[in-house]
Amino acid sequence: MKKVEICFSPELIHLHELQGKLVVVVDIFRATSTMVAALANGISEIKTCADLEECREMASAGYLIAGERNGIKAEGFQLGNSPLAYLSGDYQGQKLAMTTTNGTLAISKSTGADEILIGAFPNLQATVSYIQSRDSDVLIHCAGWKGKFNLEDSLYAGALVKALEASHDAEDDAAIAMKSLYEKEGHNLKGFLSQASHAKRLQNHNIDSDIDFCLTLDLFNLVGKVENETLIAIENW
Ligand code: MLT
Repeated sequence: MKKVEICFSPELIHLHELQGKLVVVVDIFRATSTMVAALANGISEIKTCADLEECREMASAGYLIAGERNGIKAEGFQLGNSPLAYLSGDYQGQKLAMTTTNGTLAISKSTGADEILIGAFPNLQATVSYIQSRDSDVLIHCAGWKGKFNLEDSLYAGALVKALEASHDAEDDAAIAMKSLYEKEGHNLKGFLSQASHAKRLQNHNIDSDIDFCLTLDLFNLVGKVENETLIAIENW
């Protein structure tokens, strides 16, 4: 049996071995949910940038630019970080550069892994099927909030540990804890996560319409994978 473990924040990633592992980066509210929505609605590739200026400069290379800090669209950017912005399919065939408060940082701090995927509830089963087609130990890297544990990413991690239980042993305490939390609260995602600090932050900014999308299971059968520092979609999983 392969193994699965959880890292609760990019601040803790140095405590985990990345080499030889498949890493799933997760930022439920909202970065990885938005990346999945964008790839599923025609965005051809996504450059994830930890830095605002680096991302802004991508416009001159023909990229659409999306930027968010503290839940709010960054000044001078075409898009913020709402997954709903892509559902109309208005950006078919375009390339996107994205920077967010935590999610894009977690992706940049996952370098060194054998494979890097992004995880979200709208493509959970596709991610599980892909992982079970590989022969790797898995590390679930939660983006958290500014270095701290957050509820939504950790609960997604529990959902993934639960879905992988036939192929991957949950050996570390974090994986055991989050699996049992998901077994207890998984049937009531929206209710349970309405108390999450970032859900409240989004509600305060009147952007809670994104939350429903971010908590919807299995809308898409694509897998988001980082190849050559670029996020692309692998279809039909
Ligand atoms: C993040 O990277 O922290 C989130 O995606 C923030 C957000 O979208 O509100």
